[in-house]
Amino acid sequence: MKKLIGALIFYARFAVPFSRIGHRRRVRAPLDADFGGQRWVVTGATGGIGRAIALGAAARGATVLALARDGRKLDALVAGAKGPGRIEAVQVDLSLAAELRRVAAAIAASGRVDVLVHNVGVMLHEFGRTEEGVERSFATNLLGHWVLDAALRREGALDARSAIISMSSGGMYGAALSLDELEAPDAGRHDGFLAYAQHKRAQVELTHYWNSLGPDAPKAWVMHPGWVDTDGVRSSLPGFRKVFRRVLRSADEGADTALWLAATRPPVAEGIWLDRQRDPEHAFGFTRSGADARALADWLAERAGRC
Ligand SMILES: NC(=O)c1ccc[n+]([C@@H]2O[C@H](COP(=O)([O-])OP(=O)(O)OC[C@H]3O[C@@H](n4cnc5c(N)ncnc54)[C@H](OP(=O)(O)O)[C@@H]3O)[C@@H](O)[C@H]2O)c1
Repeated sequence: MKKLIGALIFYARFAVPFSRIGHRRRVRAPLDADFGGQRWVVTGATGGIGRAIALGAAARGATVLALARDGRKLDALVAGAKGPGRIEAVQVDLSLAAELRRVAAAIAASGRVDVLVHNVGVMLHEFGRTEEGVERSFATNLLGHWVLDAALRREGALDARSAIISMSSGGMYGAALSLDELEAPDAGRHDGFLAYAQHKRAQVELTHYWNSLGPDAPKAWVMHPGWVDTDGVRSSLPGFRKVFRRVLRSADEGADTALWLAATRPPVAEGIWLDRQRDPEHAFGFTRSGADARALADWLAERAGRC
């Protein structure tokens, strides 16, 4: 009963702003941006929103390194890119720390990165571990972001001119960050939905941590795309999709704010971006009581050290 009431409050509050109606109310003009000469890294770039970000950046002049695991989808993405920029495929399992460190070193060896988009994210209802022994959704949604980011900084590919954009989710409005709930130790304690909300809340805190690293560090922004009709939603939330199908956003609508942030680079401050506007990080009082950014960073550094 408590869960049902919570869900009703959540949907009453967010169904309009997160739908395509909300997008069309707030975003009135197409994005006019020139990313010529920029080098981007986009994770999860063969799927709905990541693909739209990669194509949108290339169409505005960027060279986009598209990180994803499926070679055939990567080939199709590269072939579908329209200039003046271009897309280069980087095949990598984004849930594996060792692969991410290798890829980061290779990226850094050929130059700096202007824009890094931590887009990859999955909601996995079934419990499983990577070959490195990490719960799979945690490895993909959070630990992998941390590892890639840290390796790119260490290798010198990210600097004060770089922008980092993290793709969170409105699902984070339902979670107070709890370090104990980021990675379930076994199947009995894994709830894919709750784990996803935790990872998405953690991305907000991680953005605060990155922005606390001083003037020589890249600036970071966190956003969410609203509700977008993608393969991810089709496979992980089929019931939700059935109900809301008619008002889900297109991938381009979901990607718009990432491209806008990269072009505009507004001052960094508390908040999560949606439809080119800064929204509050908390909608309900109970989500304020969670762990803080520093504790999260220490915890992730320790966890990454074991991979
Ligand atoms: N769609 C929405 O309504 C919505 C709402 C809020 C937030 N978001 C967030 O937006 C982001 C993108 O979502 P989406 O709906 O576009 O997702 P999607 O359709 O599931 O696409 C995800 C992409 O990530 C790739 N990927 C997943 N796991 C990977 C791994 N271990 N290694 C390499 N690549 C991997 C997928 O490749 P494969 O094809 O090989 O699996 C795919 O290219 C996520 O962070 C999600 O949480 C989405």
